Amino acid sequence: MRFDILTIFPELFSSPFREGIIRRALQAGQITVNLHNIRDWATDKHSMTDDRPFGGGEGMVMKPEPLAACLRDVQAREQGRVILLSPRGVSYNQRAAERLAGFEKLVLVCGRYEGVDERFRQLYVDEELSIGDYILTGGELAAMVVVDSVTRVLPGVLGCADSAANDTFSRGLLKHGQFTRPREFEGQDVPEELLSGDHGRIEQYRFLESVRETLHRRPSLLAGVEFTAAEKKVLKKAGLWQQVQQAVVGHDN
Ligand SMILES: C[S@@+](CC[C@H](N)C(=O)[O-])C[C@H]1O[C@@H](n2cnc3c(N)ncnc32)[C@H](O)[C@@H]1O
Repeated sequence: MRFDILTIFPELFSSPFREGIIRRALQAGQITVNLHNIRDWATDKHSMTDDRPFGGGEGMVMKPEPLAACLRDVQAREQGRVILLSPRGVSYNQRAAERLAGFEKLVLVCGRYEGVDERFRQLYVDEELSIGDYILTGGELAAMVVVDSVTRVLPGVLGCADSAANDTFSRGLLKHGQFTRPREFEGQDVPEELLSGDHGRIEQYRFLESVRETLHRRPSLLAGVEFTAAEKKVLKKAGLWQQVQQAVVGHDN
C-alpha cells in the first residue's frame, strides 16, 4: 500500500514512522510513505502556499494552484484516493481504517492556517476526514493517525493474525481489561478465570467483560453488534441481555 502525503511541513513525519510496527511495515515493503512538500509546486518567487481570504477575516488560506499542481504530479502514474484531513470531515473510525485499507494508494492532503481553498476541495478531493471534534494546527497529525491505523489492519502487518480481529471496535465491542505478571499487584489479584487454564471459561469471561465495559462506557456501540445465539445465551445467563437490549433501543436511531 502506498501513502502520498501533501504537506508544507514534511519534517514533521520524520520520527513517527521510525519506530515499532510502522517502521517494520516500511522495511518489509508492506507500505511506502512518500512526502511531498507543497512549497515545491509554488510558482511565485517567495514560494507562497497561502494568501489572504477573499471577503476579509482572520488568517490565511492555502492557495489552490500549488496544491493542484502537486496533486496532479502525485497522481500522474497511478490514481489514488484523495483524502483531505479536515475538522469538517466525516468522523474517522476503525470502520473507515478498514475500508481505506482496501485501496492501493491513498493521497493525504494536510491543511494549515484556515484550511484549503474551497475550489481545490470541490475539484480534487474524494473525501474529507476528521479525527475528532477539536481543531489541530494542521492536518499532519491527522494524516499520521490515518497511516498508523490503516497500516495496522493491512494483512500480515501484525505478527499475530488474531490481534487486530480482537481489538476494541473490531466488532463494535470495547476490549476487556488485560493483565500480566505479577499475579498480585498492590493488593489486587488477577481475575481467577484467567488463571484457570480453561480456554472456554477464559473466552466467556473475556466476552462478558467486553460487553460490561461497552455497556458502562459506550452503550451506543451495542446498536451495531450482532450477537450469535450462543452469545445471547451466555448474556442471558449472566443477567446482561436485558441491559444490552435496553442500550440498543436507546440508541437505535
Ligand atoms: C487550524 S485548522 C483549520 C480550521 C478551520 N479554520 C475550521 O474552523 O474548520 C488547519 C488544518 O488542520 C487540519 N485539521 C484541524 N483539525 C482537524 C481535525 N479534527 N481532523 C482532521 N484535520 C484537522 C485540517 O487540515 C485543517 O485544514
